[in-house]
Amino acid sequence: MEGDTALWQTARDRFCDRLISVDMDNRISERIEELRRQLEYHNHRYYVDNAPEITDFEFDALMRELQDLEAEHPEFADSNSPSVRVGSDLSAEFVTVKHRFPMRSLGNTYSLDELHEFIDRIEREAGPTEYVCELKFDGTAISLTYEHGGLLRAVTRGDGTQGDDVTANVRTVRSVPLRLQGGGWPDYFEIRGEILMPYASFDRLNAEREAAGDALFANPRNAAAGTLKQQSSAVVARRGLDCTLYQVAGENLPFASHWESLEKARQWGFKVSEHMRICRSVQEIDAFIHYWDTARRELPFPTDGAVIKVNDFAARRRLGFTAKAPKWAVAYKFKAEQALTRLVSVDFQVGRTGAITPVANLEPVLLAGTTVKRATLHNAEQMALLDIRPNDWVYVEKGGEIIPKITGVELSQRPADSEPFRYIDACPECGTPLVRYEGEAKHYCPNQSGCRPQILGRIVHFIRRKAMNIEGLGEETVELLYENGLLHDIADLYDLQAPQLACLPRLGGKSAENIIRSIHRSTEAPFDRVLFGLGIRFVGETTAKYLADHFRSLDAVMNASREALVEADEVGEKIADSIRDYFADATNLQIIERLRKAGLRFEAEERERVSDVLQGKSFVISGRFINHSRDELKSLIELHGGRNLAAVSGSVDYLVAGENMGPAKLKKAEKLGIRIISERDFEAMLGERIRTPEAAPAELSEPKRQSEQGTLF
Ligand code: IVH
Repeated sequence: MEGDTALWQTARDRFCDRLISVDMDNRISERIEELRRQLEYHNHRYYVDNAPEITDFEFDALMRELQDLEAEHPEFADSNSPSVRVGSDLSAEFVTVKHRFPMRSLGNTYSLDELHEFIDRIEREAGPTEYVCELKFDGTAISLTYEHGGLLRAVTRGDGTQGDDVTANVRTVRSVPLRLQGGGWPDYFEIRGEILMPYASFDRLNAEREAAGDALFANPRNAAAGTLKQQSSAVVARRGLDCTLYQVAGENLPFASHWESLEKARQWGFKVSEHMRICRSVQEIDAFIHYWDTARRELPFPTDGAVIKVNDFAARRRLGFTAKAPKWAVAYKFKAEQALTRLVSVDFQVGRTGAITPVANLEPVLLAGTTVKRATLHNAEQMALLDIRPNDWVYVEKGGEIIPKITGVELSQRPADSEPFRYIDACPECGTPLVRYEGEAKHYCPNQSGCRPQILGRIVHFIRRKAMNIEGLGEETVELLYENGLLHDIADLYDLQAPQLACLPRLGGKSAENIIRSIHRSTEAPFDRVLFGLGIRFVGETTAKYLADHFRSLDAVMNASREALVEADEVGEKIADSIRDYFADATNLQIIERLRKAGLRFEAEERERVSDVLQGKSFVISGRFINHSRDELKSLIELHGGRNLAAVSGSVDYLVAGENMGPAKLKKAEKLGIRIISERDFEAMLGERIRTPEAAPAELSEPKRQSEQGTLF
């Protein structure tokens, strides 16, 4: 009996323990849910409504509590928890996903007349129509899929049929709701919009990159697209992306109009533009465009036009699509923004090759969201063409490049006594008389070994990521080493010792050792990068690759005659002469010998070969493709014995033409009788070798990895 009681007590204790622990679990999961709900709410108030209710400090405390609980209780993990917004350092691999509904582009126009024709056509077909006018956001398109009110997937536009799955990165974008608010959303739907980089984030990012010696992004659009393809979502989380949604897609959507769908989307927690208008006439549409053409300058994010869409879904269905775009919408693009400002002075910059670039210092002026203080004037000819004079009022414009350019002079503001600009005839840095090479627009300082910016420029070029990739050494450290007499040319790098660096200001023992280690590691860089790193005038990254591929060793390049050099792909007489000049210089030859002693790679690696089916055939790849990236196609060509050429010429056998390839290239290829083939035709040439991914070498069957480098200038 006693034993029975004891047994009963133990069982009861266990039962109670379990109850307590179930109760604990419930309380923890409830607390986690409560924290998630609160954090999403405050996140929305901050990033979508612009109306925070709590301080950053309070928000961080809630986030930390959630992170701690989630770490202790991985059983309550949720891929849509607000804690995923900080991202992770795990490397993302972008799997290609087919869009359930194609992501089409928009027809676009710069002309109001064409826009009016578009409206006329619609009204002829559909009668009096209601339009929604929106801003055209200048970022990168994204499609978000929601299932049961939670974010399921985020996919880039890609080629419109399929794109990259970038969900982990998009989860870090604070204005993208991870779980929807309210109710009434379809169980499964897609919503499309634009991932944007606001100017403030863009300026901060470029300032950081400049300080780190990294290449700058040319504009917020490239920065947004590049960031979205980052391997680490933690990096994405820090870059301050934003997301505005403008189109709901799905089957049997419960709305009659676009306006209604976006109103609902706003209630569910999406960031939907405040700047949309319903317009019922051409006059109202024109007024919208006219207003935003100027007012957009005050917006904190980039826009490049207006989008005019038919509002009623039934009317949209009647109007339908062309092969590429809907017939019920059009984009009107604003003209590039210009600003008028005063020229203060002109600086002359000396590049690493000695090339002189005149740069205008301007009275600061706001242009396309950022303040412009400097603009390039290109060269003496361009300055003469503009007839730019001291104190002139000038027009500045941003092209695709980082540095804005001067496009004209406001002559009505010119002082009567102004005189034409006199171009410099001596190097502003070292005083050496400038020279002009035949056929070159720029002036050059020929004092290669004694002119400071040239010496520093060559070293900075050599250590670049795309050349020897010496990490830990930036422009500032190079300057410091130069000022202290430790670095004069690229070969000096390999003589540096850690103790020499450790005693310099701003460099501790640890970073000195890191620098020495990465210098040492750079001796592993492949030959084509060494060749590029030498900084021979006109020998860019691609030409270096061709030269390495053709000659296979530095000795062969050094000893090649002019005739032999032009045999290599893409090498013309100008490049050949520059290579010959480089190797005729005794100082350069001494540097080369010291680099050889330091153990740099002066020979190309053996080529990998999978088959010879493309032996003797030359290809040019152009445009965008569905199954492969351009680089994948190029490596396939090489793996199967073919040759890649960059430009259409008589020596090309096949032009593999993708989407969006330039019409000029196509025309030239047709004229030269080159066979123009599609990606499919190309795949057919490789037959079974390409169809079975298992048979392909590992690097080709991996999901596509994209780096942001491609989008940089
Ligand atoms: S609607 C079927 N609305 O412009 C049409 N697009 O050239 C779906 N864009 O790929 C697009 N702002 O990246 C639409 N308010 C807006 C937009 C917009 C920017 C972009 C979008 C699209 C491209 C079309």
